[in-house]
Amino acid sequence: MPVDIAVSGERDTFVTRRSGALDGEVHIGGAKNSVLKLMAACLLAEGRHVLANVPHISDVSLMCELLEAMGVTVTRADHRLVIDVPAELNTEAPYHLVERIRASIVVLGPLLGRFGTARVALPGGDDFGPRPIDMHLRALESLGATFSTAHGDISGTAEVLRGSEVVLEYPSVGATENVLMAAVRAKGRTRIVNPAREPEIGDLVEFLNQMGARIGWSGDRLTVDGVERLAPAPSGDGFRVIPDRIEAATFLAAVGMCGGSVFLRHAVAEHMTMLIRKLTEMGMHIVVEDAGLRATVTQRLASADISTLPFPGLATDYKPFLVSMLTTASGVGIVTENIFTGRFRYIDELRRMGADIRTEGHHAVVRGVERLSGAPVRAYDIRAGAALVVAGLGAEGETEIAGAAHIDRGYEDLAGKLAGLGASITRRRNAAGASVAAS
Ligand code: EPU
Repeated sequence: MPVDIAVSGERDTFVTRRSGALDGEVHIGGAKNSVLKLMAACLLAEGRHVLANVPHISDVSLMCELLEAMGVTVTRADHRLVIDVPAELNTEAPYHLVERIRASIVVLGPLLGRFGTARVALPGGDDFGPRPIDMHLRALESLGATFSTAHGDISGTAEVLRGSEVVLEYPSVGATENVLMAAVRAKGRTRIVNPAREPEIGDLVEFLNQMGARIGWSGDRLTVDGVERLAPAPSGDGFRVIPDRIEAATFLAAVGMCGGSVFLRHAVAEHMTMLIRKLTEMGMHIVVEDAGLRATVTQRLASADISTLPFPGLATDYKPFLVSMLTTASGVGIVTENIFTGRFRYIDELRRMGADIRTEGHHAVVRGVERLSGAPVRAYDIRAGAALVVAGLGAEGETEIAGAAHIDRGYEDLAGKLAGLGASITRRRNAAGASVAAS
């Protein structure tokens, strides 16, 4: 395989100890949840596409594998991807890849848009609970696609896609992306009512427009005028993926947990307005600068209530870090999860570290304790894993977080970046059982 991939050992762990105040600068990389969709968008046009500021994470490696299985050639050097898309593609996404990366469902829209046919394995549920794609399918059906399922695959066909009004009953990120990437090649105008408005959607719109699409916002609707053909975006140094607001949130939480003062280079304040407000309410001092954000914490944080919502609300992806911070904040915080109601599994792990948390349905009541106590715990998904790392930095003694591979799906060298700020964290390569300094 021509792609240089560093996928972690399945059994690696992170080992943290209570850390003093963090200090220094951390570089925020490109956004996982943007780059995966930009890679899918490349399927819409034959030729050479170049993406820059691509994070070195295993989800990108898996998406490379998926594109390669379709006949695309991907080369990865440093933080760039060169994606060569041929005239003909295999329009099938097989189960053994789809089950490892759910974001792969976003190949459905571009394949239907360009070839009028696609067969994608149905993603199953995961640790967040069921992950349906009904809204993706209804939205694509509004453009004229038809679907059938057999043997665990969903097959879509569309002789002609026709622009129409697509109403999303909920602003699903994935459904918005799929319908956008089909509508750019449909005949006529599509209006998407109630689209997702996450910054990563903005990045996809910009990328598609650079490929020749005609997409605009009118109020909070998206209007797409279909075009006959698309071409790779003019490359230059490559299309630069936006910075990862979730990675930035992780480092903000680490400062919240340990105290100190850290500059987050490239973090974009407008992508995190609600988060910055919430953290300020909890007692963090955050200053917005041209090149990023500076976060300073000099005292114990105060609890706050948290309720997740689609953008511009507080993202569900921030919630695990916020819960970690609440475990040692003064007072009681009530957390309400409105997006993925099953996204509370890591709370049992935090309880093993001495956190005082009660859950009831999609609510959690977090009563801050003086200090967490290090324990062996397990990461079940990317953000939960990073939240346990954050908690471990504030816990007395040693915390060993199993499931580093989950964290590697979305973070480039999390341990190395935290260690660079003075945090006490190492990666334990498990085959040999030896502890190695984070790099
Ligand atoms: N939903 C449906 N039907 C659908 C689609 C979604 O019921 O057809 C429901 C989901 O079950 C969920 C809610 O709608 O309850 C939101 O789902 P959405 O489609 O907005 O999310 P997604 O596209 O599956 C992306 C991110 C997630 C992030 C969510 C919400 C990627 C690859 N994933 O998922 O990120 O939490 O948006 O912002 O972009 C992560 O990075 O760790 C991660 C999970």
